[in-house]
Amino acid sequence: MLTDLKPSEIENAFQPAKEIDDATKFSGRKEAFENSFFGLMSNGSNLAIVGNRGIGKTSLARQIQTLALGNNELADRLNIGGGHSFDFLVAYYACGSGTETVEEMLARVLASEHGLGSWLYYLPKTTKMMNALSPKLAIKLFGSGGEIGGNSGAETVNERIVVPTTMQGVFENVAQDILDSGMTNDGLLVIIDEFDQIENPSGFASFLKALATNVPKVKFCLVGVAKDIQDLMKEHESADRLFAGSVISLKPMERAELLEIISVAERAVHNKIRFTDAAKSKMVSLAAGHPYLIHLVGKFAFRDAFRNGLTSIDVADIDRVIRSIAENESDPVLEGRYRKAVASSRQREIVLKALVQHQDDKGEIWTTNAYRTALEQGVDNASQYVGQLVTKEFGAELEKVRERYYRFKDSLFAAYVDARPLMREL
Ligand SMILES: Nc1ncnc2c1ncn2[C@@H]1O[C@H](COP(=O)(O)OP(=O)(O)OP(=O)(O)O)[C@@H](O)[C@H]1O
Ligand SMILES: [Mg+2]
Repeated sequence: MLTDLKPSEIENAFQPAKEIDDATKFSGRKEAFENSFFGLMSNGSNLAIVGNRGIGKTSLARQIQTLALGNNELADRLNIGGGHSFDFLVAYYACGSGTETVEEMLARVLASEHGLGSWLYYLPKTTKMMNALSPKLAIKLFGSGGEIGGNSGAETVNERIVVPTTMQGVFENVAQDILDSGMTNDGLLVIIDEFDQIENPSGFASFLKALATNVPKVKFCLVGVAKDIQDLMKEHESADRLFAGSVISLKPMERAELLEIISVAERAVHNKIRFTDAAKSKMVSLAAGHPYLIHLVGKFAFRDAFRNGLTSIDVADIDRVIRSIAENESDPVLEGRYRKAVASSRQREIVLKALVQHQDDKGEIWTTNAYRTALEQGVDNASQYVGQLVTKEFGAELEKVRERYYRFKDSLFAAYVDARPLMREL
């Protein structure tokens, strides 16, 4: 009986809006997790997780965080590491938009609660250093009016401290102080999510290089939308060595991994709602490797099933759910981008979909094929629409690779275009 299920179980079996932090819900990605394990173990190497939007970077980063703190649940389940457990102190910071420079990012890591914020008040030497900072640096760290500790004048630390004059220096000192306190065996792990949001990340490679020499037991894990580490750091020289062997590039998920996500969700509702094999296949093929799309469609399919008292979800239900996801703008960002590209032209919509259908395994589209498909559907001037789709006015979702070859910049958007039914109102 569906009525035995708690609405919250149904609502949270899939979670499109949130990364996976629960190890029991983390599907697939064995190789990536194993490489992360060795990355944590490897002295002097930093880690990076790169990949497309919505591919699962933050979810992996959360598992790395859990692993680094000494929780081996996932490692044991995947049979990785032979029971070795880590003992890092972990700081986690997601950049978000509006982080302009490396200095600003470091300031936020230092000041934020999930970053190193709580340690600033805890370590006497650090507190003393903070109180001695120039007003300019202090404002960068805590904003105007913000102040640390409260310097009562009664010094409890008599060691001489060297007061740094740059944010990089402040970071080094705090990290060193944390390591000196002997709180951790493995050192400090600093996870920076959405690193790609930093407008100007220049100087980060040289900061890492200096850190490796001055405070060797600090490891960074950079996470962001990028194709490789150079792309992420926007720097071309010698970033490789700082990440020796520990750049984890997340590829589209395999069929079996996507199916595992569905099984995990079915278990979360005690298998009282199931997808038919055909419905699962449909979901897997429309997701095109993006776990996000499985969660998005799955969530609304469960809602729909609950509302209509269904215990089995079939292909026709999935089709209905996808249409309602589009029409209710359940993902307002993807739907907004779709509408911007289509801009009320059925002809342009047909060309957009034809392009998506002709992506090769590298995502490249040979226009000759796409134009033929568009022509079959009555659009004889497809090249004109392609010309528009690369412009800002239509969202610039498409880019030219070379003569007669195009690609979508974001594979998640391409998958959405493919899955979404034609707009009704055109
Ligand atoms: N290994 C996994 N098992 C199950 N679900 C996953 C897994 N990885 C990611 N997901 C799901 O896929 C979606 C996207 O995941 P996540 O937020 O980790 O991706 P991301 O690459 O960080 O995305 P963004 O580029 O938007 O930051 C979420 O709904 C998440 O729950
Ligand atoms: Mg993320």
